[in-house]
Amino acid sequence: MSFKESIDYSNLPKHVAVIMDGNGRWAKQKGKNRAFGHHNGVLSVREATEAAAELGIKFLTLYAFSTENWNRPKFEVDILMKLLVNTINKETKTLNKNNIRLLAIGNIDSLPDNCKKELQEAIKNTSNNTRMTLVLALSYSSKWEIINAVKLIAADVHKNKININEINQDMFSEYLTTKDIPDPELLIRTSGEFRISNFLLWQIAYSELYFTPKFWPDFRKEDLYEAIVNYQSRERRFGKTSEQIKQK
Ligand code: IPE
Ligand code: IPE
Ligand code: MG
Repeated sequence: MSFKESIDYSNLPKHVAVIMDGNGRWAKQKGKNRAFGHHNGVLSVREATEAAAELGIKFLTLYAFSTENWNRPKFEVDILMKLLVNTINKETKTLNKNNIRLLAIGNIDSLPDNCKKELQEAIKNTSNNTRMTLVLALSYSSKWEIINAVKLIAADVHKNKININEINQDMFSEYLTTKDIPDPELLIRTSGEFRISNFLLWQIAYSELYFTPKFWPDFRKEDLYEAIVNYQSRERRFGKTSEQIKQK
């Protein structure tokens, strides 16, 4: 039986975020180089995107490249950037066919020019799509994003655009690169690592975390279904007691 049959469509997460990890180890296991793992990870991106859209999930965020990943050997960074440009270029048609809008979060200005250009074009070309939003986290780190927000807020205070007393959680969220994107209810990490690696620290304050030992290139639709069924078995209390939640 597929986990899909157990999904409660009235209780779907609106936003699922994924830390796609384990490409290198997956390749190593097969006696191949890390690039082979990254190339095979693209199929999993397709699977996850399709599965999420088919289910009716509204936002899927994929952590594709972290600020810290710039510290990898140059040839690996170059391979990842090239793969990114090629994939975006190839997949824009499919995104449009499936009515999926593309967005990017992170320090997009730090990406190589051709990459930025390809990305901006794809974002523009898919901007009217309404079924699901696919968010790519690129050159993303949460600490960068939070410091960036603090700088923007300080500048607006300085320009008298806002008053210090007006700063609250909602306003702060508006200064993050995730503005207009709801917080994820579910965060998935593949590859058996139990850490967040500087991803969406502010936004996952109350997310449900799901860890799977599978390496990212092995991730298939069924794995997303399983994560969602697991998510739906949890009681989200938000600080309240279980009794209070059940009364509703
Ligand atoms: C995830 O796989 C992809 C990126 C971080 C870009 P890794 O490349 O981190 O693979 P492992 O974790 O070394 O196996
Ligand atoms: C996290 O994976 C970043 C992405 C998935 C893009 P890493 O492989 O870079 O994470 P750490 O450094 O092992 O925590
Ligand atoms: Mg890794």
